[in-house]
Amino acid sequence: MAEPSAVRARRPDRESADDAVIATRGLTKRYRGGQLAVDGLDLTVPAGSVFGFLGPNGSGKTTTIRMLMGLIEPTSGSARVLGQPMPRASRTVLPRVGALIEGPALYGFLSGRDNLTRYDAADPTADPRTRRERVAAALDRVGLAAAGGKKAKAYSLGMKQRLGLAAALLQPRRLLVLDEPTNGLDPQGMREIRTLVRELASDGTTVFLSSHLLDEIEQVCTHAAVMAQGRLLTQGAVADLAAGARGRLAVTTPDASDAARVLKEQGAADVAVAGDRVTAEPPERDLAEVNAALVAAGVRVRGFALERASLEDAFVALTGEGFDVAG
Ligand SMILES: Nc1ncnc2c1ncn2[C@@H]1O[C@H](COP(=O)(O)OP(=O)(O)O)[C@@H](O)[C@H]1O
Ligand SMILES: [Mg+2]
Repeated sequence: MAEPSAVRARRPDRESADDAVIATRGLTKRYRGGQLAVDGLDLTVPAGSVFGFLGPNGSGKTTTIRMLMGLIEPTSGSARVLGQPMPRASRTVLPRVGALIEGPALYGFLSGRDNLTRYDAADPTADPRTRRERVAAALDRVGLAAAGGKKAKAYSLGMKQRLGLAAALLQPRRLLVLDEPTNGLDPQGMREIRTLVRELASDGTTVFLSSHLLDEIEQVCTHAAVMAQGRLLTQGAVADLAAGARGRLAVTTPDASDAARVLKEQGAADVAVAGDRVTAEPPERDLAEVNAALVAAGVRVRGFALERASLEDAFVALTGEGFDVAG
């Protein structure tokens, strides 16, 4: 039975390029020096996702984000954010987007609270009568309520990053864009940011975050896009991306070097030994035979398993090389 089209049009949960929170078509940026930083990017970020924009250093993440936020003009192609063309609709779009790009600009001599007050005062749509409450709520949100009176220069890097996030959270946002929000943080600081991102997402905010760290994207994101040298390699739900790759074979044995040799003979690629663990890309044959060959060669096999494919496996399968974090 056909639905009236007016009803269909209003349904909020349908997922298409029309109501994607971010959608780009052929988005390209060539810098004046001739560097092709972003090359024909078609990106679709579904509403309600935690979207990981993954790529090694220099792969074009920040350049893309700066185009999305209307900070620089694309050389060609187009970008829509919250359904509106950027940079043309910056004035209507940006107040609904919280952004943290390449570290927040803070005044070290001001307290965290006073820094936020300045940010809020710079927003012409922010009612001055409710400023104090907004600032207090944002500090509380990022766990800086107790440290709000401290000078920003006395903050740790993690606290500075959280203060930058608080600035992005002064207003209710439909979209948060975070460029490498955990860059330079220690493991504890990274965990705090991840927890915060999850909380924000559970409130319904779409979060778009870039990272050069695979496992970080895997831990927090529902969707991801993988960039290399300005080009999009793949995008989609994280579970689907990983499922597209075969998992790794892992053998646990006290005879690791013998096991490595036998696995190579059996056609396994990319064999790696770490202590009593030997991992490899599994060969295209019955793994029962591979196991039998190990045993026949006198390898004492304690564990033999095909591990679930990770996003890293998917990346290696796509590029034929490891994920180079050094860039
Ligand atoms: N303002 C600029 N002028 C010229 N080249 C730039 C500029 N900014 C970045 N690039 C170059 O563009 C490429 C992509 O950089 P960037 O977008 O910063 O990547 P990422 O954020 O993934 O590390 C790099 O090769 C970088 O050197
Ligand atoms: Mg960057």
